[in-house]
Amino acid sequence: MVPRPSIDRLLARLEALGEIGAIPHAGPSGGGSARLALTDEDRRGRDLVVSWMRDLGLDVSIDGLGNVIAVWRVGDDPNGAPVMMGSHIDTVRTGGKFDGNLGVLAGLEVIEALQTAELAPLRPLAVAFFTNEEGARFAPDMMGSLVYVGGLGLEEALDVIGIDGARVGDEVERIGYGGSLPSPGPVPHSFVELHIEQGPVLEEAGVTIGAVTGVQGISWTEVTVTGRSSHAGTTPMRLRVDPLVVAGRIIAHVREVAVRMGGDQVATVGRVAVFPNLVNVVPASVTLTVDVRNTDETLLQQAEADIFDFIEAACAREGCEVTRRTLARFEPVEFEERVVELVESTARNLGYTVQRMPSGAGHDAQMLARVCPTAMIFTPSVGGLSHNPAEFTDRGDLLAGASVLIDVVWRLANEP
Ligand code: HGY
Ligand code: MN
Ligand code: MN
Repeated sequence: MVPRPSIDRLLARLEALGEIGAIPHAGPSGGGSARLALTDEDRRGRDLVVSWMRDLGLDVSIDGLGNVIAVWRVGDDPNGAPVMMGSHIDTVRTGGKFDGNLGVLAGLEVIEALQTAELAPLRPLAVAFFTNEEGARFAPDMMGSLVYVGGLGLEEALDVIGIDGARVGDEVERIGYGGSLPSPGPVPHSFVELHIEQGPVLEEAGVTIGAVTGVQGISWTEVTVTGRSSHAGTTPMRLRVDPLVVAGRIIAHVREVAVRMGGDQVATVGRVAVFPNLVNVVPASVTLTVDVRNTDETLLQQAEADIFDFIEAACAREGCEVTRRTLARFEPVEFEERVVELVESTARNLGYTVQRMPSGAGHDAQMLARVCPTAMIFTPSVGGLSHNPAEFTDRGDLLAGASVLIDVVWRLANEP
């Protein structure tokens, strides 16, 4: 009988990791964390998780981007391709304590539960955390897993400059996580990522487990609108070339496109930087980001075209210049039916309610799906909230997710 995970051990690790970069919050979560990729807080989180990996006797390897892969070398071929679990431990600036962390720490719990029961599978097991999944400081998101599967060159990733002007490679070196594991990394037998849903679907449906069918397409664009800075008091309205007015029109239009298209269409302007950002100066320039997503690639392209056309027209109308830079562009991903079905049937056999659903958020699993059979297990998010210190999933649902994870991984690690 495959042992059950210890929810107390899992919660203790989630709390301990959540303390690093802690953001206090009065609600049930007790707060979240700020551990932007490759910051000192990220390093401290990495050091803690790596210490837990070593305590479990795992063989820890690190690649040139700081992806960390820890392998429990058991079974008929200890050096063979492992069944890999994992996710990320970097956060957005207003992160919760479950996003990403759950997938990594539940993976450690699976291994500890099996070790405690003196039960070893026929294949090795691995737990990984990938660098910079969030993409909040350095774009694109899922950068580490994209490099790990060969979708982005290591050198190209190391040369990325962040929103604060830092270079990825310098930061990887500064925090001491530049390793020698080759990129692309060793291909796992399979990959299973447990993750909070981060949206309202499971909670509204009253369902405990999501058997994730895939990940929607993601389009991130940085737009810089340049006007003419001038005196707020002396410049007549007829002479103004104001990029911030244009940015305001763009922001409103981005929302209108998503609402008009409906369905799975979402669109967000999340970052705006105004220069010189002073009360008495008509701005010189505005840089903003546009995040557009849809499960359907054709509709995603339609939304992009509508928004980009609007941006050009709005800038021309005001006499502003405009430049666009793609920060991330990933088409929708479908997970292998066999593994999705395994998640679904495992949850059902454990007596949990389960439903199939796509992921609205990006995940490392969408990159691992390029090289091996991959699945995701979702647990509900209270109020559908994430990327917010109030992010919360209750212990019963966490235990359900970890229980499905250990049974799915056990099946994959023992199949012929
Ligand atoms: O943006 C995302 O979907 C993920 O949180 N990186
Ligand atoms: Mn995540
Ligand atoms: Mn996230």
